Amino acid sequence: MKNLTTTIILITGIFMASCKPAPEQTRTTGLIAENGMVVSAHPEASNIGVKILKQGGNAVDAAVATGFALAVSYPAAGNIGGGGFMVIRFPDGRAVTLDYREKAPAGASENMFQDKNGNVIKGLSRTSFLASGVPGSVDGLITAHGKYGKLPFDKVIRPAIDLARNGFPLTEKQARSLNRVKEQLLEVNDGVPAFIADSVWHEGDTLRQPELAHTLELIRDQGRDGFYAGETAGKIMAEMHRGNGLITMTDLENYHSVWRKPVTDSFKLYKIISMPPPSSGGVALIQLLHMTEPYPVAGWGWHDPKTIQVMVEAEKRVYADRAEYLGDPDFVKIPVKGLISREYCRDRMSDFTPGHATPVDSISAGNPAPYESEETTHYSVMDNQGTAVAVTTTLNGGYGIKVVVKGAGFLLNNEMDDFSIKPGYPNMFGLIGGQANAIEPGKRMLSSMTPTIVEKDGKPLMIVGSPGGSTIITSVYQTILNVVEHEMTMQEAVSAGRFHHQWKPDYISYEKGKLDSLTIRSLENMGYKFHARGSIGRVDAILVRPDGKLEGGADPRADDTAAGY
Ligand code: DON
Repeated sequence: MKNLTTTIILITGIFMASCKPAPEQTRTTGLIAENGMVVSAHPEASNIGVKILKQGGNAVDAAVATGFALAVSYPAAGNIGGGGFMVIRFPDGRAVTLDYREKAPAGASENMFQDKNGNVIKGLSRTSFLASGVPGSVDGLITAHGKYGKLPFDKVIRPAIDLARNGFPLTEKQARSLNRVKEQLLEVNDGVPAFIADSVWHEGDTLRQPELAHTLELIRDQGRDGFYAGETAGKIMAEMHRGNGLITMTDLENYHSVWRKPVTDSFKLYKIISMPPPSSGGVALIQLLHMTEPYPVAGWGWHDPKTIQVMVEAEKRVYADRAEYLGDPDFVKIPVKGLISREYCRDRMSDFTPGHATPVDSISAGNPAPYESEETTHYSVMDNQGTAVAVTTTLNGGYGIKVVVKGAGFLLNNEMDDFSIKPGYPNMFGLIGGQANAIEPGKRMLSSMTPTIVEKDGKPLMIVGSPGGSTIITSVYQTILNVVEHEMTMQEAVSAGRFHHQWKPDYISYEKGKLDSLTIRSLENMGYKFHARGSIGRVDAILVRPDGKLEGGADPRADDTAAGY
């Protein structure tokens, strides 16, 4: 398996260095399947999703089963104590999105993470019990299944229950990750959660989670009441009392996911269908594509300095708009139409000078048309009828606040940090924001999650998304361009090196070793600064090839796996 991965990376590396699509016989492809596919962060979850498809479930059944399976097999981000977004496109072209993002508890307030003098209290929005928003995942998965699922719910959730009860072998990366957080888990929990090994975890060790299995059984038997009321809610309350958290029984009872119209627009021959606010993802992605559209990036080539410059300048402007305008649409008016309009996007790029970096201080939010009314996980699903589902879900930071609800076996999120906890104060991804994303009781915090479906000629072409906080949007943007402009296969597009600019801080971050040094020098000469870092994003995507077969793109940066049949 390792050797295969290394070979894929090597072949991809050779391909990338040439900047042109390689001849067909040397192209790297991901798994090819004819009927259905699931690509997710963990092999157990992908296999469970495909099992549900084979049992006659549709893509929504498979997405719900995969979601619960990730809560078991990928506890760093897969979750029932967090929230997420689902984008569904049906074979007749209709598309819907489900927003099950966490909400601020009723007791939350704008300055809750600041001291009396208005200074941000370090860590409070990330590691304390105050960091947890009211979880949305369980309501979301149940709501999606209730409306569009085909198989009975108990059949869809059963594989996750079995996985939690019987256990599954840890991957090498997971064993290391759990060993790394052991001390923190011991420090913040009352008792010893299932994630703690007697000594240390090794690859292949079995992780069993009987308490989580029990919670999932309650959800199986009682639906949303198995989580938002009764025994599980009582256990969440006990944690809130122990750690002075804000979530109340009423907050849990009042939590409901919301069906929202997707944000859509055309990009060249393609239609982009993505997540609207409270995610900034769909709006930002369409803005980026519209800003890129007039430039011949395909002719310039992948990672050509001119291509990178256009993309980076677009990113600076889009993230400046994000900070000013985006928030929860149930609380603030967002000029979505104005922001994604082609004219506005092109106008935003009018002060861009080829060959010169636009100083970020000369960029601020634009003036769109007036108002109209580092863990997350993404997975992509497609069934044999052509229904496509893109889901991104998160606890925010890896393992959230690291508190495992005692007796219930699941982790609590730290999503409150995604609010603008003070105007101009960066969140854990360095993103800044203002009033539109200020904390208010019952409000959803702004997200960057970008579950997206790309359509061509009225048919689904690609299902794509990523974790990575602020870099989610730019990872999805690059993956789409890699396929539609640079003619990469799905796997090549996912494996290719990534870079990112978010307006502030003013540098291009890039995956160490994945950007040619001459390219860097050429851009430095134009005035760009660079910052090398580890992986950016973890894209799991599916491409419908011209022959109708599905190609999976599972990110080689981690344990991500495509399964299909
Ligand atoms: O919703 C958001 O934008 C963030 N909470 C996502 C966090 C994330 O992607 C962390 N992953 N690496």
